[in-house]
Amino acid sequence: MKYDVKDLKLAADGKLRVEWAAEEMPVLAQIQESFRREKPLKGIKIAACLHVTTETANLAITLKEGGANVSLCASNPLSTQDYAAAYLVKAHSISVFAIKGEDTKTYYNHIDSVLNVAPHITMDDGADLVSTLHKDRTELIKNIIGGTEETTTGVIRLRSMAERGVLRYPIIAVNDAETKHFFDNRYGTGQSTVDGILRATNRLIAGTNFVVCGYGWCGKGLAKRVRGMGANVIVTEVDPLKALEAVMDGFRVMSMDEAGKVGDFFCTVTGNIGVIRREHFTKMKNGAIICNAGHFNVEIDLDGLSSISKRKRKVRDYVEEYTLKDGKKINVLAEGRLVNLSSAEGHPSSVMDMSFANQALCVEYLVKNARKMEKKVYDVPEKMDKMVAKMKLGALGIRIDELTQKQKEYLISWEMGT
Ligand code: ADE
Repeated sequence: MKYDVKDLKLAADGKLRVEWAAEEMPVLAQIQESFRREKPLKGIKIAACLHVTTETANLAITLKEGGANVSLCASNPLSTQDYAAAYLVKAHSISVFAIKGEDTKTYYNHIDSVLNVAPHITMDDGADLVSTLHKDRTELIKNIIGGTEETTTGVIRLRSMAERGVLRYPIIAVNDAETKHFFDNRYGTGQSTVDGILRATNRLIAGTNFVVCGYGWCGKGLAKRVRGMGANVIVTEVDPLKALEAVMDGFRVMSMDEAGKVGDFFCTVTGNIGVIRREHFTKMKNGAIICNAGHFNVEIDLDGLSSISKRKRKVRDYVEEYTLKDGKKINVLAEGRLVNLSSAEGHPSSVMDMSFANQALCVEYLVKNARKMEKKVYDVPEKMDKMVAKMKLGALGIRIDELTQKQKEYLISWEMGT
């Protein structure tokens, strides 16, 4: 079995941590149980490019229980939990190619390694696997029946591929399931980003001006959490609707130019490039702290920052201090990569439970249905989404009401008015 992980001796620690995560993943556990009995993925080779965390370990184990042969690499060079990777290799004979802090060349070599299994299904988080496959490994596409995509950025890339007619197999946008983005993007990113910032800096958030760049689901979650910690939250946006929503949610909304002058913390969560740029750095206060919780490390223009700096030094783990030519200092966390997965452990298991339940069920769905599907991006079937919500409520011991017959009839009637 091939693999490339940091140190297999970390497997014992990994076991405890993967089991700890599993305690909060009851929906995935139920799916794992039925996969174990029914083996719906028998003979299926899966290449997965996901953040290699304890939650992902539970997903990989579930897929293997379903009969799949799973190969896993990282979807970000800084997000790997080396103990989880070691545990999967040692205890579950799952091929993992991921080392926290790997350079870009190794990152892509690892993507190549998982593709070398000639997969039937791809699972991606950010679409680097699918993009590599369509650019450099096209000979493998004939084996592939379908794929899944975990995150907003990946779905945007894939929709663009589909629109340009270059996507060569069907992919299900797991991100767009309501049981995914309502919870993972909002509550997961909200909490884990605060966790990442605190672990990296140990700074007080109360009383500071905290600038959230982007008011999508992730931005909404983060803004809510830092407000709860006593920050004065400022939102920047390019979409007038989202900007209005932020205003009416009670946040101050301003342009990046204005926010740049007053922010103490800045966190980008837009999914776009060059959100904080040179012209913003020059206006910032001394000691400003900047980080990113969007998928790629392109939101903060670090080249622009370097070009106006005379010095850069690491002052703590995950904190780099840039000294500008005028002497002002700006601190960048986690090299502008996902701060929640770099300096903390990513989203809590409880939300990943639903995201990964969708992933596992979508893989099963692809095995059954992919041959009837077109080369485009599909939504998670609504029935499946609702089922995941029901299973989660059930696991939480929460009962809800059911529509009465009269209510069902009322909802489809048009005759009845005042
Ligand atoms: N994305 C965000 N948090 C994650 C986690 N804990 N595991 C896998 N992918 C994630």
